[in-house]
Amino acid sequence: MEPKAVKSNIVLILDYGSQYTHLITRRIRSLSIFSLCISGTSSLKSITDLNPSVIILSGGPHSVHSPDAPSFPDGFVDYVEKNGVFVLGICYGLQLIVQKLGGEVAIGEKQEYGRMVIEVVKDCGGLFGGKKIGDKQVVWMSHGDEAVKLPDGFEVVARSEQGAVAAVENPSKRFYGLQYHPEVTHSPEGMETLRHFLLKICGVEAGWKMQDVMEEEIKVIRGMVGPQDHVICALSGGVDSTVAATLVHKAIGDRLHCVFVDNGLLRYKEQERVMETFEKDLHLPVTCVDASVQFLSELKGVTDPEKKRKIIGKEFIAIFDSFAHSLQQKYGRKPTYLVQGTLYPDVIESCPPPGSGRTHSHTIKSHHNVGGLPKDMKLKLIEPLKLLFKDEVRELGKILDVPVTFLKRHPFPGPGLAVRIPGDVTQGNALDILRQVDEIFIQAIKDAGIYDEIWQAFAVFLPVKTTGVQGDQRTHSNAVALRAVTSQDGMTADWYYFEHKFLDNVSRKICNSVRGVNRVCLDITSKPPSTIEWE
Ligand code: XMP
Repeated sequence: MEPKAVKSNIVLILDYGSQYTHLITRRIRSLSIFSLCISGTSSLKSITDLNPSVIILSGGPHSVHSPDAPSFPDGFVDYVEKNGVFVLGICYGLQLIVQKLGGEVAIGEKQEYGRMVIEVVKDCGGLFGGKKIGDKQVVWMSHGDEAVKLPDGFEVVARSEQGAVAAVENPSKRFYGLQYHPEVTHSPEGMETLRHFLLKICGVEAGWKMQDVMEEEIKVIRGMVGPQDHVICALSGGVDSTVAATLVHKAIGDRLHCVFVDNGLLRYKEQERVMETFEKDLHLPVTCVDASVQFLSELKGVTDPEKKRKIIGKEFIAIFDSFAHSLQQKYGRKPTYLVQGTLYPDVIESCPPPGSGRTHSHTIKSHHNVGGLPKDMKLKLIEPLKLLFKDEVRELGKILDVPVTFLKRHPFPGPGLAVRIPGDVTQGNALDILRQVDEIFIQAIKDAGIYDEIWQAFAVFLPVKTTGVQGDQRTHSNAVALRAVTSQDGMTADWYYFEHKFLDNVSRKICNSVRGVNRVCLDITSKPPSTIEWE
């Protein structure tokens, strides 16, 4: 059967729950090929709608023998064969292919985990391209079950040193399989294998560029938002909402209305600094609402961290609501759309893989920075970043002329300094002290040229008085803590190892210039057991 003439240039990944699945997506995108990941148990229609050139079946924690083993939908094999779609199974994906196409998978006698050497056993110019029989490479294995009988037409092209199947192929059917993870760095030749497979075997065109993503998104937004529609967006001062708003602004101009709320819990000169970027650099239509008095009076005396978060969220909603009403009065109609800076990992997280025990829930994310929006506002969502990873958003931001220094800012929590002052946020001049200390710390980090090595750095106000001696006088002032962590995604983190000289300078500067502080501590805990923030 001849393949369908025009296929989209998408490499679709069916996720069976491997911890590396999203890494496959990232790796393929880094080859300038667009790749998407959906659940491994998606319907045939969701797969055919995307019309992919290549489908990768991911690894996963299951055994194909378990009664609830996830699998591709009925009709899948027929569909890929009729349409000339290439299929690559990785680990569990390989076993699924073997089992579903008539081969046999057995509980492996020798389970293989970690680094392994594999050897090419058939020189057929397929998965391993120019490699010859006897060529070896190191790969990262992680499997218990093992393919013991291949379906008709399949051949073993590589084996592990222990003799287990490491790679199979059936070029005439366009089915391929790797029993190891080519996407991890522990498989040093894995990227080359993926590149060769996609470009040379499948004939996928590499040409996916951020510029095209931007133009495509602008087209989509223009097609979606009617000529009379108004769109609102809450800017947090963070990278995601700023890039999302800038993109929507480019698409629909001043029918986008942004609001930036100063809740009194922002960093030193934050309002001035971000408003300058929004207005001068990005020309975004932003209303700045100074609601600090309102927020702080609601927070007075509140010490429970979750209560603080709830109050902040509620106040934010009230302000957002009145912003939307003022737009309705001005333009005679309610805003129709809401822009959110949702990223791909958020979308993936809300569509958990089969077998994870979690359920699908893609609703309006109770965005930490927004705190959940009133249901009766009935806003439709525009999420222009929902297919992008964080570093891709930064790349898009660059094309949109968002200043690079802004794009590299450390994350800042929605409840702001409230989670960095254990206890009552309004106690004494805690907020003022914290802002000054934080500014000295961050500026020193920037001056030392280490800002970009750190995921997040900040100061914490400690609600205890300690004894000190400053200028021949005994003092009874506050202590502060400094926290800096390295991380990939904020889920786990390690504390950053500063040079002693750096810490010494920062500590002196803080005690010498911030009235009310006589002690500086360094937080040296990782996450877990701690969290990044103190509350
Ligand atoms: P934790 O403290 O949970 O933080 O280790 C992980 C990351 O999330 C940020 N964070 C928040 N962000 N609202 C937010 O918008 C919150 O309530 C919140 N709590 C923590 C934190 O700064 C870190 O980047």
